[in-house]
Amino acid sequence: MERILSGIKPTGQLTLGNYIGALKNFSKVQYEGETFIFIADLHALTLPIDPEVLRNNSRDVAAYYIAAGLDPKHTTIFLQSDNPSHSELAIILQNYLYMGELSRMTQFKDKSQKMKEEAIGLGLFAYPVLMASDIVIYDAKRIPVGEDQVQHVELARDLVKRFNNRYGDVLVMPKAEMVKVGARIMSLSDPTKKMSKSDPKGDIYLSDSLEVMRKKIMSAVTDMGREIKYDVENKPGISNLMTILSSLTGKSFQEIENEFVGKGYGDFKRAVADAVINEMTPFKARYEEVIKSGEIDKILADGASRARKVSELTLKRVQKAIGLYNK
Ligand code: TYM
Repeated sequence: MERILSGIKPTGQLTLGNYIGALKNFSKVQYEGETFIFIADLHALTLPIDPEVLRNNSRDVAAYYIAAGLDPKHTTIFLQSDNPSHSELAIILQNYLYMGELSRMTQFKDKSQKMKEEAIGLGLFAYPVLMASDIVIYDAKRIPVGEDQVQHVELARDLVKRFNNRYGDVLVMPKAEMVKVGARIMSLSDPTKKMSKSDPKGDIYLSDSLEVMRKKIMSAVTDMGREIKYDVENKPGISNLMTILSSLTGKSFQEIENEFVGKGYGDFKRAVADAVINEMTPFKARYEEVIKSGEIDKILADGASRARKVSELTLKRVQKAIGLYNK
């Protein structure tokens, strides 16, 4: 069985973009292989974060995983920091990724853009090293991610190639895979920008109430004209809302266009809001149940022990291949 692996960083509040591009998809693909889904809490430290916020966010991501339908009996759900093999391997792998390529990473450029060089943490720079380690430590082949993480997975591929050229067939080659529709949900206030975890107006947070979600969609920026048409260049706002609608209902862009011929933006936005609320109502209820059930700690503990068993083998294999004594 192929291994499938992905993770979410517990910074800020999760958005509808995270849900469509990642969460919902994780629960869809989980039974196609042996699946590992984790909470990237060490990655959350790459930018300043309050300890209490980190703790709560980590618990929330775990609850969202279960609420979205991840099945802890099948899928290994765990905290990155509960498996020291990730960090141990990262210390080794950092020698096979280069400063030049790390400094070209879009995420690093975006996040460090406004910082003074003296204040940019080494962890932010080395982010893709730990991420490559997260992936290869489980011999994972399929990495379901949103579009913004594909570049990091590509870098992990370069690393595997480089490493294996030198030491033989030690690491398994991973591949990023994206959802067909919704791998890059855009901000509702500026549809030329990605929906991120830090833009309260343009983001729909999974923690927003259903009324707030509806309001945000009804006041989403739209475009000139009144036609409902998928055209990213000339109608980025409408195209983004169509993407959300399509990914939640399974309707194609053509079907949506046909449905709204002769209707206005108001009707269309109402349909998008209905679809979001339809999806979020049971999801949010399930999240509340999971939080109340107190089952999260047990799921994470079981997940961590399963994860450790698998990753120890890879770590040994790598240590041996590179010549660490007595491994
Ligand atoms: P993170 O926490 O930034 O995002 C989690 C997942 O959500 C996707 N995503 C989106 N998809 C569609 N539209 C959007 N607007 C949107 N915003 C975010 C992301 O692409 C991602 O799949 N580095 C990762 C976490 C990580 C990881 C890994 C992932 C750490 N190690 C190993 C895969 C494999 C991150 O910060 O994702």
